Amino acid sequence: MPNPSDPSPPAPAGAGAAPSAAAPRFAAMVQRLSAEIGAARSAPELANAKARALGKEGELTAEMKKLGALAPAERARFGRELNEAKQAIEQALREREAALARADLDARLAQEAIDVTLPGRGPGAGGLHPITLTIERIEAIFHSIGFDVADGPEIEEDFFNFTALNTPENHPARSMHDTFYVDAPDGKGGGLLLRTHTSPVQVRYARAHTPPIKVIAPGKTYRVDSDATHSPMFHQFEGLWIDEDVSFADLKSVYADFLRRFFERDDLDVRFRPSYFPFTEPSAEIDMRFADGPLAGRWLEVSGSGQVHPNVVRNFGLDPERYIGFAFGSGIERLAMLRYGIGDLRMFYENDLRFLQQFNR
Ligand code: DAH
Repeated sequence: MPNPSDPSPPAPAGAGAAPSAAAPRFAAMVQRLSAEIGAARSAPELANAKARALGKEGELTAEMKKLGALAPAERARFGRELNEAKQAIEQALREREAALARADLDARLAQEAIDVTLPGRGPGAGGLHPITLTIERIEAIFHSIGFDVADGPEIEEDFFNFTALNTPENHPARSMHDTFYVDAPDGKGGGLLLRTHTSPVQVRYARAHTPPIKVIAPGKTYRVDSDATHSPMFHQFEGLWIDEDVSFADLKSVYADFLRRFFERDDLDVRFRPSYFPFTEPSAEIDMRFADGPLAGRWLEVSGSGQVHPNVVRNFGLDPERYIGFAFGSGIERLAMLRYGIGDLRMFYENDLRFLQQFNR
């Protein structure tokens, strides 16, 4: 049985039948050269066999050179016989070439055969980024206690980011934010910047709605800051509740309840530590502490907050004698890191699939 990848040499073409009978003079040569051609196992070997027969220094070529020296009668016979020999060799070359190509194809087909019993790869299923998952979680919790979800522009006007939030031009609190200022389309400054916090959404939302105002606003914020716990782009969510009788006690219960639901644990202490923000009075930093686990016993700062300053209520277009309420602004990465036990903020933005896939099982 001939092996398909090792084709046995064909019977030397022309060596048996007509040409050898018609050209006994070259029969032995044709047989030998055809055998060499038939034994070639690769394209380069075949090219060498061809050169030995028909190349510049080839055996048939050498015979051809003798033609000129022969007498005319002899020359015709010699030429015809030589031509038949040449055709026989060419036929052998074509056959061997085809056999090698077939063997090559067979080998490739065998090698590239598809194992249909293997499980399919399927399209890779995408998943949501851990920050998106965290935002969805925050939204669901606040939604369940009656908060709307709003957003605002990331390229913000100086007015909404600072001035309307009781932070006038020369207020020292402006230096608390190292800000990315943006050129307006007309090339002039134009008072545009990448918002340094989500607090401007308070003003935009309150101006467009009537009390009771109860909203959270998650989104991207920007500051000139970059290390293991700071990124020039990060996420915050703002909270605002304004009505005729919303007190600091409401802030405490709403936020503590949010934290317990966000972390899914009751062993969680919350404290309000006096602080300063221009847009709230009084202001507080919200800290939390787990009773168990690797972070047990450590106070962790999670949010700024406070009772909305009367000047800001006025900038909402509301009467501060009548309306009162609270606001807070929390870092989303920070909450996600605490919930998932992530040590380095930058992992959120490196797009390493080994990290990201862990959130979408
Ligand atoms: N905007 C503040 C910041 O980015 C956080 C903040 C503090 C927001 C107090 C508030 C608030 O709404 O009442 O640092």
